[in-house]
Amino acid sequence: MLSIGCLRENNDDDFRVSLSPETSKKLIKKNIKVFVQENCGLKSGFNNKDYENVGVKILKSSESVIENSDIIISVNPLDIEYEKISKNTKSKIFIGNFNFNNSIPDSRFTFLALERIPRIARAQSMDILSSQASIAGYQSSLLAANHLKKYFPMLITAAGTISPAKILVIGAGVAGLQAIATCNRLGARVTGFDIRESTKEQVESVGGKFLELNYEYDDSDKQGYAKEQSLDKQEKQNEMLSKYIQSSDCVITTASIPGKKAPLIITKKNVENMNFGSVIIDLAGESGGNCEIGDYGEVTNFSGVIIDKPKNITNLVSEHSSLVFSRNVEAYLNLIIDENKINLDPNDEIIKSTNLNLEAKIE
Ligand code: NAI
Repeated sequence: MLSIGCLRENNDDDFRVSLSPETSKKLIKKNIKVFVQENCGLKSGFNNKDYENVGVKILKSSESVIENSDIIISVNPLDIEYEKISKNTKSKIFIGNFNFNNSIPDSRFTFLALERIPRIARAQSMDILSSQASIAGYQSSLLAANHLKKYFPMLITAAGTISPAKILVIGAGVAGLQAIATCNRLGARVTGFDIRESTKEQVESVGGKFLELNYEYDDSDKQGYAKEQSLDKQEKQNEMLSKYIQSSDCVITTASIPGKKAPLIITKKNVENMNFGSVIIDLAGESGGNCEIGDYGEVTNFSGVIIDKPKNITNLVSEHSSLVFSRNVEAYLNLIIDENKINLDPNDEIIKSTNLNLEAKIE
């Protein structure tokens, strides 16, 4: 009988858990044994009883979860000494968000990296980058609303009319579109900008106005990702965006290029020219930030402008971030498990992209 284990995350700053009680229940129904490490879900709002009630067996140590499981799932890379796993063990599979850079820690085991799920229609239900980016976009809007000392919606009150907040969202990928949709639901006047022209329709479909800048920029590559802009194009963009940045109450930036440093979009000068009390939420902090001012994980007050570059933003809705991560895992498991047996078809595009062993160097 196939067994799956979930560990308590070793990264204390990340509140997520890789397997929810909901997914565990579905796996158990398929005749798969599920083990989780004690207290693994506490920071996501799942207690040990929630797991036990659906038939999960709780184990005290990470070692016992690993020992008992054929497949071990985690959100972050594991901080374990793989060589300490019994020498006779050959066939364990580790699944998670690894970012190992083409190297794997132990060649006896298979490492399946969920961050490499290809952006194709068939893989949408498994796409951890999208599910987590969507949460980041939602939460960035709430952070902006909390920092801003103004209402988001237009209000007609006994004390007179309040104008809606003006929000500019730069980068209209998964996070940016969710930010536009959320700010729009909160009643703000939202404008979105992206260098990929295909986003115009998407921005409008979630209630934003698309900002068209009249210059020639490099659109997307064959995979649909944005291309890194040449220096002169980026400078042109900054010059044209300046007046829109400076007249916004909040700017939410999500612009990034996979594998590259995030483009610099809000310069120090832009911040200096913004109104006192304006807010910038920079979601690209991890890859260097879109705003020249502020540090990743910090909130900075720069002459009255608040710049927030949140770290682990999914923690703020950790129950749902874990729930959707776990649903992504479940969809991926459905691909690799057939009648209680693991089938890693090397010809399947999704498996080929995620299986690090196919091209990895050993650490
Ligand atoms: P991302 O996180 O890599 O980048 C965020 C956004 O920043 C992108 O929309 C990008 O165009 C934009 N950007 C980059 N440089 C910029 C600049 N200088 N100025 C303004 N904006 C800039 O993107 P994400 O959200 O991961 O999506 C990337 C692509 O993948 C999109 O085309 C999206 O539609 C597609 N996708 C496809 C999926 C599927 O079919 N399964 C699932 C998810 C995304």
